Amino acid sequence: MRRVRRSDVDRWMARFVGIVSSLCGLGAIAILVRLGIAAFSVPHRLTAGALLFGAAIVLIAGFFLSVDYRLTFNRPNLYGSILGLTGWRGLGVFFVAIAAVLAVQAARRRELDALAYALVSAAASCWCWMRAFRIGRRQNDRRAVDAYLDACYADFDDARAAALQANRAAQLPAIDISPSQGKFLQLLARSIGAQRILEIGTLGGYSTLWLAGSLPPDGRVITLEFNPRHAAVARSNFERAGLSDRIELREGPALESLAAIERAQEGPFDVFFIDADWVNHPQYFTWALKLARRGSLIVFDNVVRDGAIVDTHSRDAAVRATRELHERLGSEPRVLATALQTVGEKGHDGFALALVVADS
Ligand code: SAH
Ligand code: DHB
Ligand code: MG
Repeated sequence: MRRVRRSDVDRWMARFVGIVSSLCGLGAIAILVRLGIAAFSVPHRLTAGALLFGAAIVLIAGFFLSVDYRLTFNRPNLYGSILGLTGWRGLGVFFVAIAAVLAVQAARRRELDALAYALVSAAASCWCWMRAFRIGRRQNDRRAVDAYLDACYADFDDARAAALQANRAAQLPAIDISPSQGKFLQLLARSIGAQRILEIGTLGGYSTLWLAGSLPPDGRVITLEFNPRHAAVARSNFERAGLSDRIELREGPALESLAAIERAQEGPFDVFFIDADWVNHPQYFTWALKLARRGSLIVFDNVVRDGAIVDTHSRDAAVRATRELHERLGSEPRVLATALQTVGEKGHDGFALALVVADS
């Protein structure tokens, strides 16, 4: 296996960005104080103006660094987290504040250059707001594309629609797979003629319904869920869909259910859909291999997580586990595996797919 080792560069880069962005934060505060003084009493507006532009440039640089930093490492720091959270809108507000202070200064002292600074700040603010608007529109576009693709591909089914409604009514987290992703799972299961499917992480059973839809009449899905509230909603969804005979929900921690499945020799399964607690995904992979046969397909959800997985030094156990999973999938000789990024109504994420190519 070729391990990714950019770790030292990343660590120093993270420190550097942390220091730069903290300095930016202090600079911005100093500038605001200075501008306030300049606008309301002390006549040092040119110093204030110069400071303003200096700070604005540093701030913009810090902003790009912090965004890049946040996307690349997904780890907060003092200033990066503030701008990372507020993004272009926050920067837009910042410039509006500066423009307002300068406009007051221009009006009170009848100074043209203060007015010019105010206009420049206002323009900068507009630019930030336009960026924010464009990002918002791109997110809407992605949702719209998913809606269109769902309309084209994700065959409408009353029971599935009712299940989604029931999940929302029961206030389950809205983290069900998307309809087109459901169709994708169904296509995968059908393409290998799956008869026995094991799902880890049921929630309200929306993905389970898609998987069950790929089965022949005597096929079977076992789905594992440890939250009793989720399990109850899922059971009623299976009932309503008339699929209770094909779907069996096992309540309890997945690792325990998996051990019980092995003890009872209920394998092998043709398809595994693993979509539960990310920290345990590597262990679920180990179990899936035990419960698979040559030709089984193992699918993992949420393997990209908004890009967080490229943080080589993440302290987030889920990120570390997901990286471990990728590295194992890529180097395990018993599977032919790959991962695909996805974008759409579920944000930026991905699936990992592993075809078992050896006898387990
Ligand atoms: N596959 C579902 C979404 C699953 S969300 C769908 O797309 O419709 C993840 C689910 O896994 C949650 O319901 C959560 O309660 C469950 N879960 C998390 N950790 C678990 C564990 N250790 N054992 C069993 N279930 C778990
Ligand atoms: C989350 C969990 C999921 O299974 C998913 O597909 C998306 C998000 C979550 O816990 O945030
Ligand atoms: Mg998921």
